Amino acid sequence: MQKIREYLTTHQQRFLDELFELLRFPSVSADPKFAADVSRTAEFVAKKLRDAGADNVEVRPTAGHPIVYGEKIIDPSLPTILVYGHYDVQPPDPLELWETPPFEPTVRDGKIYARGACDDKGQFYMHVKAFELMTATGTLACNVKFMIEGEEEVGSDHLGDFVKANKEQLAADVVLISDTAMISLDTPSLETGLRGLSYLEVEVTGPNRDLHSGVYGGAVANPATILAKLIASLHDEDNRIAIPGFYDDVVELSKDERDALNAAPFDEEEYKNDLGIKALWGEKGYTTTERTGIRPTLEVNGIWGGYIGEGAKTVLPSKAQAKISMRLVPNQDSNKITELFSKHFKSLAPDYVTVKVTPHHGGQPAVTPTDSNAYKAAEKAIETAFGKKPIPTRGGGSIPIVSLFEKELGLKTVLMGFGLDSDNLHSPNEKFDIANYLKGIETIPLFHRYFAELED
Ligand code: BES
Ligand code: MN
Ligand code: MN
Repeated sequence: MQKIREYLTTHQQRFLDELFELLRFPSVSADPKFAADVSRTAEFVAKKLRDAGADNVEVRPTAGHPIVYGEKIIDPSLPTILVYGHYDVQPPDPLELWETPPFEPTVRDGKIYARGACDDKGQFYMHVKAFELMTATGTLACNVKFMIEGEEEVGSDHLGDFVKANKEQLAADVVLISDTAMISLDTPSLETGLRGLSYLEVEVTGPNRDLHSGVYGGAVANPATILAKLIASLHDEDNRIAIPGFYDDVVELSKDERDALNAAPFDEEEYKNDLGIKALWGEKGYTTTERTGIRPTLEVNGIWGGYIGEGAKTVLPSKAQAKISMRLVPNQDSNKITELFSKHFKSLAPDYVTVKVTPHHGGQPAVTPTDSNAYKAAEKAIETAFGKKPIPTRGGGSIPIVSLFEKELGLKTVLMGFGLDSDNLHSPNEKFDIANYLKGIETIPLFHRYFAELED
């Protein structure tokens, strides 16, 4: 502990400078225009792993963006930790809402503002720096493998094949991921589950071309109106999802499990104030904590059609479109839900329009055990570093690859995230508190040590 703190104090400015360097790369995986930047980021990550003492560091090409691999095997008889993270980021749009540019990291009030500051550059880089700290101080207690990918934000399309093709190289005892949130530095928590995802695009087409809304309006169905109606019909009056069979496989939690989840501190007034809303919304019969953790949801991520430029144009659009996602919980299956949605949505289409449904990526939900050595090690590491035992929570987000680690590598995951829900992930002004970054670097070596002790 003493050694960790000393090393951290001596090197903390450099640890921050290096993160800033990483944050300056616009590694937007969704937009092909940034492909060269994404590759350069991978090279940077590889270099930093080498500098920190990793062996066999490689930038492994895929049909999409590259995966960075590196390892340090100090003793094959010791347990091995596979660290997973992602160096790609979400697009920064809308740019005009950023107070400072997304790829020029800026510190305000002890927080680093930049795209990727928390999700996930700031978080996976804590592992690179904790690893440097352990190798430099001769305190590495476990073997470590790093797999840092560049396609998480677009569904990890090529990571599955990589994992299947490299099972031996990736063999480990546990997967450790910092890509989730905790409640706060004062109330540390560990996420014990992630939701799955089904993502689709829908297109409603009416007339074969845009029409003058005065000449044809009233006689021809407007696809934008129809789309709005169809979307509105996807929730019932209890805000439950009105797709037949949607809830069939949902695991209902016991009263005790629900009580335990709801025991996590939650201040409704603060939550509403932070978001600038007067009232909350959601599935009847469930608390906000449950609605964002253990219940499935359906959201419109974007909706468009017709004229959206400056001023007014009188037009009856030929098409209207929307991007729709569903968050899934155990034991819902992403492919099955995508099927159910498509079938239902198409069946809703009245004769005067045609409906097309195109699936995008998806991912299975995952729960992580709380009785494993790895979870206990994480709990103890956080307790030592934060002075408080972490509360188990269920995360609302998705990391699709987690279920695949279990299926293909037989590995359970520990989600030791140091972000905050209020870090503006995927939004303008994404941030990461410097305090969380440094606390993370302090906690990770403790996890390694306790995990080695417990597995011994
Ligand atoms: N790090 C997030 C997931 C996350 C955020 C989990 C907060 C728990 C709490 C990850 O980068 C992410 O954004 N995943 C996507 C899914 C992906 C397929 C695009 C998501 O959740 O929307
Ligand atoms: Mn992430
Ligand atoms: Mn993300």
